[in-house]
Amino acid sequence: MKYLVANWKMNLINSKNWICDFNNNLNDSNLNDDLRIVICPNYLQLPKFNQNHLSKINFSMGAQNVSGNNSGAFTGEISAEHLSEFSEVRYCIVGHSERRSAGETDAMIKAKVKQLLTKNITPIICFGESHEIQEKGETEKFLNSQLNSIVNDENLNIDSCILAYEPLWAIGKGIPADLETINNSISYITKIIDLNKSNLKILYGGSVDSENSGEILSVDNVSGLLVGNSSLDGKEFANIAKKF
Ligand code: 13P
Repeated sequence: MKYLVANWKMNLINSKNWICDFNNNLNDSNLNDDLRIVICPNYLQLPKFNQNHLSKINFSMGAQNVSGNNSGAFTGEISAEHLSEFSEVRYCIVGHSERRSAGETDAMIKAKVKQLLTKNITPIICFGESHEIQEKGETEKFLNSQLNSIVNDENLNIDSCILAYEPLWAIGKGIPADLETINNSISYITKIIDLNKSNLKILYGGSVDSENSGEILSVDNVSGLLVGNSSLDGKEFANIAKKF
């Protein structure tokens, strides 16, 4: 299975128009049967997106965040139970760098992963180094520190998760990480998690568009793409989908 995930972030998108643009641009192209497309709009659009399901293809729904707690006095939070009760969410992004920079810690991310797994929602766990870490040559050590506690928790089935490598310096910059960096980082992760014994999927995210997606997908062990800006336009997103 390959994955193409749209992270709409906090943008206002008319989902009906978006689906029209996506459909029109798809024309009669047949997408790879093995491709799952996941759309992550804001929480409020999740149920509406389902109602607008006029699409030629079956989109899966994802959320952009979830609470690390089960229920109770957590004003403004949305639980994994809410996601599964009030929408058809099957995936949820966690640990995005934009949330980590707002104070989310590895321990908080792990708690979110656990909550999602109790509701059979697949966590898409983001990880990636900053420019400073890369300059210091400490990328591997840093990636290990971000994933270590999740990967080595015997009570947590890592095969039920998806990882997304998003180097901070490539997000929203218009230029993705070079193929060598993507290959090095993902190869390193495949060593931490023996992919011969695991079905774990690893995606790449950071300035993906229809021009660069083909070559990024050719990198070993890249099982899909997590797309921000280029997912906001249904037409461009369809062009990316055709590259799989
Ligand atoms: P861009 O595709 O806009 O660089 O965003 C990547 C991202 O943060 C997806 O989660």
